[in-house]
Amino acid sequence: ADSFEALRETVLACTQCPNLVSSRKNVVFGVGNASADLMFVGEAPGAEEDRRGLPFVGPAGRLLDKMLAAIGLGREDVYITNILPWRPPGNRTPSADEIALCKPFIARHIALSKPDILLLVGNISSKTLLDTQTGITKLRGQWQSYKADGLNIPALPLLHPAYVLRRPETKADMWADLCLLRKRLAD
Ligand code: URA
Repeated sequence: ADSFEALRETVLACTQCPNLVSSRKNVVFGVGNASADLMFVGEAPGAEEDRRGLPFVGPAGRLLDKMLAAIGLGREDVYITNILPWRPPGNRTPSADEIALCKPFIARHIALSKPDILLLVGNISSKTLLDTQTGITKLRGQWQSYKADGLNIPALPLLHPAYVLRRPETKADMWADLCLLRKRLAD
């Protein structure tokens, strides 16, 4: 696929995970400014995202919006997508096979967008795009590099906002990591 539209069509035509294809309501491709410097990559759509066909529009998305606003950014300044373009039933964690099947799509998505900075939202996004087994609580707050397809993009792993909602005591960590991003943008 050599354009977002072509990639969207390829993703839509994919039937490699038949159980996900039959249980989903919508394909959730991505949203925002395709030429933005910042690209956020989450895990997979939740119930509200599946219903509306847009990433991060449920409770986690509302917190993501607040996080962006706290460092002076709006949705128009960023592009947002997920590792999986459709919702695993019951919001279960995507399987290793599902992630492996979807990885070429997100790699192409990143290669087409060529952001200056990647924000890896949560454990699945960080592990998948950094090719590591190290968990998000260790990786968060430390700049990494996304290396694939000849790209070498600075990447910041962040706690998932859904996790922060469940564990309010992690808000300070999230804020510290957003400050790292803000500093990088100001440099
Ligand atoms: N959680 C995610 O990782 N992505 C979404 O789009 C919504 C919730």
